[in-house]
Amino acid sequence: MKAINRRRFLSRSTASVALSPVALKAADNQAARRTTARPLVVSTWPFGKAANEKALAVIAGGGSTLDGIEQGVGLTESSGNRSVGLTGIPNAAGVVQQDACLMWGPGHQAGSVCAIEGAVHPISAARRVMEQTKHVMLAGKGARWFAEQQGLETVPVEAHLAKYEAWLKDTQVPAAQGDGKEEENHDTIALLVLDKEGNLGGGCSTSGWGGKLPGRVGDSPILGGGLYVDNEVGAAGATGLGENVMRYCGSFMVVEYMRQGLDPEAACVATIERIAKTDPRGLDLKINFVALDKQGRYGAAGSGNGFSYSVTTQSVSGVLKSASLSDLNVGPIGGNRFED
Ligand code: GLY
Repeated sequence: MKAINRRRFLSRSTASVALSPVALKAADNQAARRTTARPLVVSTWPFGKAANEKALAVIAGGGSTLDGIEQGVGLTESSGNRSVGLTGIPNAAGVVQQDACLMWGPGHQAGSVCAIEGAVHPISAARRVMEQTKHVMLAGKGARWFAEQQGLETVPVEAHLAKYEAWLKDTQVPAAQGDGKEEENHDTIALLVLDKEGNLGGGCSTSGWGGKLPGRVGDSPILGGGLYVDNEVGAAGATGLGENVMRYCGSFMVVEYMRQGLDPEAACVATIERIAKTDPRGLDLKINFVALDKQGRYGAAGSGNGFSYSVTTQSVSGVLKSASLSDLNVGPIGGNRFED
């Protein structure tokens, strides 16, 4: 597969939303980020590229789009990642608690698990919640019990306090109490697909904030927070400090901006700007969004220096740099506290 070259074309968004200069710049570049190729897979971070390619291979091999999403995200979950899968940084009790969700455009279906322990593939548990229950979200012990009932792979839950303590020593300050190196610990995979039938779906998985308080749930399993899919409009996913995404229904907001006419990158920029307008931290948020619309346009934006995201079709697969909204490197902390 050849690498994607990010070429810049000039075109104006048809949006009726008032755009800041940054959002206008994002809209200007959108024509280069559009393809008629289907399936089109877009995901967060450079490690998303392998997940995208896995999703595409599963679909090309006769699997459904949901199979592709599940197995693509599943690949990252078992790749040894520091913040996706059981290899993630444990919480303050030394246990890895994971969050995941999956959403499918047709029928507006969704499934989610949060604070699940010992699940090898939380994304699979989320899919089973969607397909096998009348519920949308299962939490903690109940989520693990359900995964076991479904025959999904689980491992004994063990507290790896030494791993937590090593992480703590490295970061000096516990993230749950202050300003640890959270930028290293928020590498959620959010993977979005536009398939050959024109349907949209997505999946999201993370072990969350390293050193988090036990029971802390981030944005990733929250529909409209870490992931949102609207089959009429588009899909969006988030990575970064969940506390700064979930208070604003971030992914839902991105999709709603696309509904109003913004292209995906401009919608991500507009969402971050709107959050920054309300939040006492301003742009110092450490939040990032990736988005894909029904027309095959894609884009991403992040606070601070932004982030990298992956885009894959049958003929090209590559990593692109998102739009960025300031030169701040990292948000200090998430949640309701903003001075320490
Ligand atoms: N965005 C992942 C988390 O905050 O847990």
